Amino acid sequence: MKTKIALVTGGARGLGFEFCRQLAGKDCTVILTARNEERGQQAVSQLKELGFDVHFRILDVENEEQIAALATDLASSFDSIDLLINNAGVNSKSSGREEDFLKNFKLSELSPEHILHMMHINAVAPIIMTKHFVPHLKKSRNPKVVNISSWLGSVSAKTNGGNYSYCGSKAALNMLTRALAFDLVREGITTIAVNPGWVQTSMGGTRAKLTPAESVAGLLQVIEKMNIKDSGKFFQWDGTEHPW
Ligand SMILES: NC(=O)c1ccc[n+]([C@@H]2O[C@H](COP(=O)([O-])OP(=O)(O)OC[C@H]3O[C@@H](n4cnc5c(N)ncnc54)[C@H](OP(=O)(O)O)[C@@H]3O)[C@@H](O)[C@H]2O)c1
Repeated sequence: MKTKIALVTGGARGLGFEFCRQLAGKDCTVILTARNEERGQQAVSQLKELGFDVHFRILDVENEEQIAALATDLASSFDSIDLLINNAGVNSKSSGREEDFLKNFKLSELSPEHILHMMHINAVAPIIMTKHFVPHLKKSRNPKVVNISSWLGSVSAKTNGGNYSYCGSKAALNMLTRALAFDLVREGITTIAVNPGWVQTSMGGTRAKLTPAESVAGLLQVIEKMNIKDSGKFFQWDGTEHPW
């Protein structure tokens, strides 16, 4: 049987790395992408030492030219893409600078540039990524696109102020995922958004409830089971549906 090929964005650390590790452990060929060459290569070496079939490609998801070049490169190196995981994301604390946090989070400090920058990475980039990989996905027998969203993107679950850029960008991702899902059903591609839960990564912090291994194991079960009738749905890591 043909090995499945998975493409993961933001794969050098956190949930992205764990997706690569667990997928490779299930005999997938994994294309691990990262915007930092050194960190990406290190992550790939770590997985290759475990005997996994993992390939590194550089990718900053904000850079459409780089996405297009990657699409051309992968079309000649791999037969198809079976699974695209749009995982790369940032929140208001990602840069580590208090100033950026306030400009993304606090009403009196908000900056349009900061909001738009996060919108680009979290909401727009997954759709632009997918746009470029539709031809590769169409060559798969059971192609799937998974956009990593958040419970913080749920409009109905938002009951407090603040956190404008992150909540807004994940809510936008949810709506863009719905639009994408309806378009891609016509191409035979299943598309969903998922909430990984609160996870112990650099973004989630040490107090988070789930380990990356637990969250990704749950999400991979969701991904394994999903079919075209699930297109446009928003799932939690435990397989239940998330309210919009
Ligand atoms: N952890 C949680 O509790 C939680 C909860 C809900 C949703 N999520 C979502 O889960 C996804 C993964 O988050 P995480 O917890 O693993 O966070 P993380 O540890 O901070 O990792 C974020 C990843 O995204 C990459 N990234 C950021 N901007 C990028 C860009 N422009 N191009 C390419 N890669 C980029 C980072 O690469 P660098 O190493 O180069 O920075 C890193 O690999 C995100 O979409 C996040 O919003 C996480």
